[in-house]
Amino acid sequence: MNNKQTTVSEEHLLYFQQLLGNRVHTGEAVTAHYASDHTEDFVFYPAVVVKPESTEEVSAILRYCYEHDLIVTPSGARTGLSGGALANHGGVLLSLERMNRILEIDEHNHQVTTEPGVITEVLQQAVREKGLFYPPDPASKGSCFIGGNIAENSGGPKAVKYGVTKDWVLNLEIVLPTGEIMWTGANVIKNATGYNLTQLVIGSEGTLAVVTKIVLRLIPHPTQTLLMLVPFRQGTQACEAVSKIFMAGIIPSGLEYMDRDAILYTIPHVDDAPDILKDDHDAHLLIELDGFNLDVMMLDCEKIMELMEQFDIDEILFAESEAQKESLWKLRRKVGEAVKSHSIYKEEDTVVPRFQLPQLLSAVKRIGKAYGFQAVCYGHAGDGNLHVNILKGTLSDEAWHNQLPKAIRELFTEVVKLGGTISGEHGIGLVQRPFMDIAFSDIQLDLMRSIKQVFDPKGLLNPGKIFPDKVI
Ligand code: LAC
Ligand code: ZN
Repeated sequence: MNNKQTTVSEEHLLYFQQLLGNRVHTGEAVTAHYASDHTEDFVFYPAVVVKPESTEEVSAILRYCYEHDLIVTPSGARTGLSGGALANHGGVLLSLERMNRILEIDEHNHQVTTEPGVITEVLQQAVREKGLFYPPDPASKGSCFIGGNIAENSGGPKAVKYGVTKDWVLNLEIVLPTGEIMWTGANVIKNATGYNLTQLVIGSEGTLAVVTKIVLRLIPHPTQTLLMLVPFRQGTQACEAVSKIFMAGIIPSGLEYMDRDAILYTIPHVDDAPDILKDDHDAHLLIELDGFNLDVMMLDCEKIMELMEQFDIDEILFAESEAQKESLWKLRRKVGEAVKSHSIYKEEDTVVPRFQLPQLLSAVKRIGKAYGFQAVCYGHAGDGNLHVNILKGTLSDEAWHNQLPKAIRELFTEVVKLGGTISGEHGIGLVQRPFMDIAFSDIQLDLMRSIKQVFDPKGLLNPGKIFPDKVI
C-alpha cells in the first residue's frame, strides 16, 4: 500500500482552517522553524503545521488524516537527539505547543496532571512550589516538553537515583491514529490490570498515538544537596570508581562523567566556568547527593572521598554555594551543545550495566583510534549511559560517509556484548534505525512491527522511524 499523502491539497487546508482558524501554517517562513530538531544537521519541511489546543481538536485532525491518507508527525519542542519528531516525509506536522497547561496538582495524592506542551522545568518548578518533586531532568529541561520526554522516555542526570520518565508516569490520555480518544491506565501507583498500555506508549516516539494528557507521580522535594567534582588522571579509573560508590551502599542523585575534551570544548560556552582543568586531568566525575538530613549525607560524602582516594586523583572540589553548584551543573548540561558546535558530528547514546563502563570507554577509544576519529565522551556514568560525540574534524568525506557507519556498528556490537543497548535516553528515531538489528532479532522486530500495525493500520503516524527498512 502506498497511497500515503506527503503533500496537502487546498481542500485539506480548508478543513484544517475551518477546524483551527489561524492555527494552520504553510510556507517556508513558518515551516522552517519546524524542519529541524537538535539532531545533527537534518532539515525536513512539513507541508503544513497545525496547532491544536484540545484533545478534541487532535482527535479531529487525526481522524481527518486517517480518512484522507495524510501522513502526520507529532512534534513537541524539537530538542530531540534522534530525529523522532521530524517530518521526514513531509505531510502534516502536529505541534503540541498550544497544549501547554498544567491541569491539576493533586497534593493529596502527590500527582500532577498536565498537557504535553508544558516545558519540563516549568512543570518541575510548579510542583516544587508545593514542596513536590518530579525528578527526570534531561539536559534540555529548560526548553523540552514533557510530552517529548514521554515520547522518547527521556532520562538525565537524576535517573541514576530516581529512574527515567517511564518510572513517573501513571496514566496517559492518548488519541489513536484513527481519532479515538482513550486513557491507557488509571491514576494509581499499583496496577495489575491487563496489559500495560501506558508503558507501551512511553518511548514509542510518536509512532503509536498522540499523547494529550499525562498523569505523573511526585515525591517530596529533597531539601539538601551536596556536589563534588573529582579529577582523575585516567578516564578508565573514573569509570572504575563509579560502581565502587554503589557497592558501598550509596546511591548518588547524580554521577556524571566528563572527558577532558568535553570540558575543554565547553568552558568557552559558559560565562562562569569554574577553573578546574589541569594538564594531567584526563576526566572528571561530578557527584551529587541529595536528601533531607545533611549529617547523614556528609557521612556518605566522606565515604565517597575515601573510595576515591584509592584512585589516581587530584584534589576534590566541593561546591560551597548554590551558585557554584549551579555553575558546575551548567557546565555539564552544556557539554553536548558545545562539543557539537566544533565540527560536523554524530552523537551516540550507548548504555551498559555500570560495572562494564570502563570496558565501554576503552572500546570507544580503541575504535576511534582504528578509524581515525575523535570521540568525546560524557554522560550519566552512574547508570552506565555514556554519550559518545564523534567529531568529523579532519576526516575525509569518504571516511565519514562510508567508514563511520562501520565504526558505529562495531561500537554498538561491543555495547550489546557488554550487556548494554544502543540508546539509553535519546531514542532511535531516524538516526539509529540502521542499527536496530544489533539490539533486536527479527522475531523481536516483527513483534514490534505488529504492534505498530494494530495501533496504526495505515502506517500514517510518524512513519520511517524506529524500524529498519519496510517503511512508507
Ligand atoms: C546530555 C544529553 C545530550 O546528557 O542527553 O547532555
Ligand atoms: Zn544525557
